[in-house]
Amino acid sequence: MPNLIQVQNASKIYGGGLIKRSDATIAVDKVTFTLSDEYPTITAIAGESGSGKTTLSLLMMGQISPDAGQVLYRGRDIAKLNNEERTIMRREVQPIYQDPYAAYNPFYRVDHVLQMPIKRFRLARTKAEATRVIENSMEMVGLRPAETLGRFPHQLSGGQRQRLMVARALLCKPQVIMADEPVSMVDASLRATILASLRKLNSELGISIIYITHDLTTAYQIAENIIIMYSGCVVESGAVNQVIRSPKHPYTKLLISSIPLPDKSKKWGGQEADETQNKGRKSTGCRFANRCPVAMDICWKEKPPLYTTDPDRAVACFRYDDSPVMESLDVAAVFSRKGKAQPGATQ
Ligand SMILES: Nc1ncnc2c1ncn2[C@@H]1O[C@H](COP(=O)(O)OP(=O)(O)OP(=O)(O)O)[C@@H](O)[C@H]1O
Ligand SMILES: [Mg+2]
Repeated sequence: MPNLIQVQNASKIYGGGLIKRSDATIAVDKVTFTLSDEYPTITAIAGESGSGKTTLSLLMMGQISPDAGQVLYRGRDIAKLNNEERTIMRREVQPIYQDPYAAYNPFYRVDHVLQMPIKRFRLARTKAEATRVIENSMEMVGLRPAETLGRFPHQLSGGQRQRLMVARALLCKPQVIMADEPVSMVDASLRATILASLRKLNSELGISIIYITHDLTTAYQIAENIIIMYSGCVVESGAVNQVIRSPKHPYTKLLISSIPLPDKSKKWGGQEADETQNKGRKSTGCRFANRCPVAMDICWKEKPPLYTTDPDRAVACFRYDDSPVMESLDVAAVFSRKGKAQPGATQ
């Protein structure tokens, strides 16, 4: 069985193109990542604003094309899918966005957003079957159909609107849900409810979840694996427990030091590099060099490869150059193959 999604050495450059690189933004820089079809996983893609998370997810969904490298869906180049194959992919890979309001038309009752995929993907043969499918998926995410259907978008709470988006994704019987900051606009208790429903979809229905966030706390709560991005590059990846509890890349350490983890055993003594020290200094090597408190000479000149520091860990930092270089470059190759491992929050 081919892998579900394979991102192969893919880059996305906005403005300027590959040739005129000076005024271009390299949003995703040679990322290789495989989402296996073997077992359902929850993978967090984390990093600060502008690090390329959304761009990577758009590449994975075929909504934008890479400027270099390629993206495969079930072994086929997304760019070369025919209409029928593309429709299947659009059904199997379902996005959930940050702002649920954007998906609704204020003049239609919310039922409309649920009926659209039913028609588009022919998910029910009769009206009664459509109603049953809709109600089932709403109940999966903890919404009561009688209280929700028939209303207009503004008559629902933000949390209800977002859960309806999860229900809509669910209708399509997806293989993957790509959730881009799905809980950043809801309050803490709803956040927990929505994250719990995403986990349930993973464990009970076998749907893989890609959870995109700048918030490591929720990534830790929901995911089994994590990819940390900085400036379009993957700097660290592995089991969420290991990466969050004992980060290796200086950037991950910096991110972790800014979040309150109740049982954080190790505090990182380091601080961000003195800004004045390296201000304006351009690195042709590691993108993080001018913020890194432990940058070495080589970091300014060469881009670090991914080192496999542990069996389920990859780190792009020269400080780990005594570990083997990861030849496959696949940041997911280090993910545990145990299948439904318990995510961090329950350990
Ligand atoms: N359509 C676009 N045109 C030009 N530049 C873009 C476009 N989309 C993204 N970028 C740039 O690409 C880089 C990566 O953006 P992206 O949206 O992928 O980051 P992100 O990690 O999702 O950030 P955030 O956490 O703020 O959502 C940023 O520098 C951004 O300004
Ligand atoms: Mg984004």
